[in-house]
Amino acid sequence: MTQRWSPASWRERPAKHIPADYPNPAEVTRVEAELRRMPPLVFAGEARRLKTLLGDVAAGKAFLLQGGDCAESFKEFTADNIRDTFRLILQMAVVLTFAGGRPVVKVGRIAGQFAKPRSEPIETVDGVTLPSYRGDNINGMEFDAATRAPDPERLLKAYSQSASTLNLLRAFAGGGYADLHNIHRWTLGFVDGSPLGARYRELSDKISESLTFMNAIGVTPESHPGLARVEFFTSHEALLLGFEEAMTRVDSTSGDWYDTSAHLLWIGERTRQLDGAHVHFMKGVKNPIGLKVGPTVEPDDLLALIDALNPEDEAGRLTLYGRFGSDKIAARLPRLMEATRRGGRQVVWATDPMHGNTLKAANGYKTRPFDRILSEVRSFIEIAESEGVHPGGVHLEMTGQNVTECIGGARALREGELSERYDTHCDPRLNGEQALELAFLVAEKLKAERQAAPRVAAE
Ligand code: TRP
Ligand code: MN
Repeated sequence: MTQRWSPASWRERPAKHIPADYPNPAEVTRVEAELRRMPPLVFAGEARRLKTLLGDVAAGKAFLLQGGDCAESFKEFTADNIRDTFRLILQMAVVLTFAGGRPVVKVGRIAGQFAKPRSEPIETVDGVTLPSYRGDNINGMEFDAATRAPDPERLLKAYSQSASTLNLLRAFAGGGYADLHNIHRWTLGFVDGSPLGARYRELSDKISESLTFMNAIGVTPESHPGLARVEFFTSHEALLLGFEEAMTRVDSTSGDWYDTSAHLLWIGERTRQLDGAHVHFMKGVKNPIGLKVGPTVEPDDLLALIDALNPEDEAGRLTLYGRFGSDKIAARLPRLMEATRRGGRQVVWATDPMHGNTLKAANGYKTRPFDRILSEVRSFIEIAESEGVHPGGVHLEMTGQNVTECIGGARALREGELSERYDTHCDPRLNGEQALELAFLVAEKLKAERQAAPRVAAE
């Protein structure tokens, strides 16, 4: 099978959630040809570096923090939004690194996260039926026929937005903004005055003090450049295989295929069919990849998918994101973790506590109760511990903006407040304060785990 793999061979397999209703298919072909000529967004060597770091996570030596919008949009594309997501990730990483005593691998759900699988291909409002909104790289959200028609030009716009986003992220990561000495400057305005802001300040005071001490004994940004920069990676769901195919190139160093649209690509819960196009496509690229694992997956299904996607059992190649729901995780996850541990498969086990905990509020808003999100994360860590598996990471839908999309949290956001700043283009995201609160909770759990079974040198 793999002998016959090519970036285009997915086209012979059943493909779900890929739009087939472009008014002019020839235009799609033209756009894909144009994309093939565009420079890669990321380099193969960077993807290999992320794979190595995720290998450390698989070995229990590091923790994965992955997060960003459910769906990026053309409308909310601003430098401030990118900076706010980036600094939220930095803040959370500080909290997690400090408590966990292990490095945190930082991956944004950003610079390419546009396409969305939808449960219904069409939507009817007041008797008018139109195609569903499928993400800004396919069609527009406004409910009129022209906007809802898929337009291939949007793929080019998404490429260019991803390129500018990455450019800014690279500058933030390496150009001084992420310097640990700036730790006090990362607090988001609206979080600053909250209990979480105070908790963060307390922690950053401690770290600043340590930096002063280290500086005095000769550990400086000059001797240790890592103090002043972070390695930051990008990821998105590999849904639109035409786009991913166009971005897939042979790496001249290794001769292998890499999907250069992002460092890490994942397969969604709705497109993980063993014989389907998405699994087939991902088998052939060498990037680190992810797989969403929902409540219907049985241990044998999971092992078959693992063997298909990571036949050489490379540590760091495959990250599993459990997304069960706080009410289902206890019944589903233990058997799956047991299967990977017994089978000796080198995978990263992470949790996506967002997608199994979505509900419709009485006022019609799609929301997620913060308590349920926390509860799924807690269960994930406890189950991992009792199964002898490293709780390797979290995958979150979140934003640095002060949105009102998930109910609960330190400010106890209520259903009636959802309409205030409900800005998401798809699913409800944690706001900065809720995300930071979650990071503190995970940190406490990791600290307890570290103290119970120290994996690194004792404090
Ligand atoms: N480079 C180290 C790391 O990424 C230390 C570091 C620098 C850091 N800036 C940071 C850690 C910001 C967390 C957040 O771990
Ligand atoms: Mn989502």
